[in-house]
Amino acid sequence: MRTILVTGGCGFIGSNFIRHLLDTDSQVGVLNLDLLTYAGNPANLADLTGSVRYRFIQGDIANRDLVRQVMGKGVDAVVHFAAESHVDRSIHDSGPFLRTNVVGTQVLLDAAREHGVGRYVQVSTDEVYGSLGTVGFFTEDTPLAPNSPYATSKAAADLLVRSYVNTYKFPAIITRCSNNYGPYQFPEKMIPLFISKMLRDERVPVYGDGLQVRDWIHVRDHCAAIDCVLRNGRIGEVYNIGGRCERTNLDLTLTLLEILGKPRSLIQHVNDRPGHDRRYAIDCRKIERELGWRPDIDFNAGLADTVRWYADNSDWLASLRSREYLSYCEKQYGRLAG
Ligand code: NAD
Ligand code: DAU
Repeated sequence: MRTILVTGGCGFIGSNFIRHLLDTDSQVGVLNLDLLTYAGNPANLADLTGSVRYRFIQGDIANRDLVRQVMGKGVDAVVHFAAESHVDRSIHDSGPFLRTNVVGTQVLLDAAREHGVGRYVQVSTDEVYGSLGTVGFFTEDTPLAPNSPYATSKAAADLLVRSYVNTYKFPAIITRCSNNYGPYQFPEKMIPLFISKMLRDERVPVYGDGLQVRDWIHVRDHCAAIDCVLRNGRIGEVYNIGGRCERTNLDLTLTLLEILGKPRSLIQHVNDRPGHDRRYAIDCRKIERELGWRPDIDFNAGLADTVRWYADNSDWLASLRSREYLSYCEKQYGRLAG
């Protein structure tokens, strides 16, 4: 049995990844280390309660003693998702982003190195490359040019990982993926936020002209790609992951309205996000060529399924809008989600 330490496994992508691992490999056990911030929700993995191949540890990746202890439990590989992940929050306060995304990564790297962990995957983002004009794609060789405090904290972590590979021959690999959609995404991010508002017939806040472009990928395709990299990726390499699915925010909003049968009058243009990146588009030919991975889920079908999932799981959405959660957000960030 191989033991994989997954950090941030109670978040959106981490929870989908743990389910993917346990469903696809009976020889894998998962240790999930998650602090349970506002974005971490044990309900995302409620179906695993009682599984002998799954263990949850609540804790902070920046806590050196704890991480050393966890790493000492016979960890064969690490897949590191834990992060502060929302751009708007990083604009409000970059402190938690630097602490978790940079210092947390450093603590994990040190402990993994100390315990001779055999493989480490750093789950990063296309946002480290900055913004594109109307043409071109991000390749793995595109220079890093992050624009938000969030993207900068992720780029700093990537550079730290790179330095551990070069300095200590540490067996790490970096993945950089585009925008994910699918079940269990916290309703502060555009797709679940807009669906939850549309379901309540509330207006949706489209930033600026809404012509910014994102390259969407279903979370299950992203998880399959990370699994490929974990098994067969080359140490020290970066792999871009993307869905080859560029949409403007306005187009995407119109599609969501159409799926839900809601009027266009729900669109409300609001002030733009400061420093808003205009376009992301990923060239993912390297992972396709080297590891044989390909995005598989058709965007229109995946989006319709996703809308259905949020409509069917209104209790999950409602629990995140509980008074306790809302007051936590207000205290922390002075702004309410979802
Ligand atoms: P998320 O915000 O849904 O989940 C983050 C998880 O990390 C939560 O469960 C939270 O409790 C946990 N966490 C936060 N701080 C922690 C700490 N100090 N110690 C332990 N756990 C902590 O994020 P997500 O959207 O699932 O993203 C996961 C990773 O994937 C992030 O590293 C993000 O940068 C990267 N990524 C996300 C996307 C996307 O579209 N969502 C795309 C590319 C890359
Ligand atoms: O590209 C990968 C990144 O995708 C990840 O690294 C981040 O963790 C993840 O949050 C996501 O970042 P974005 O900033 O692209 O995602 P978000 O859902 O916040 O916004 C998507 C687009 O929609 C973006 O252009 C901003 C816009 N938007 C967002 C919100 C929340 C709006 O117009 N209105 C909104 O209310």
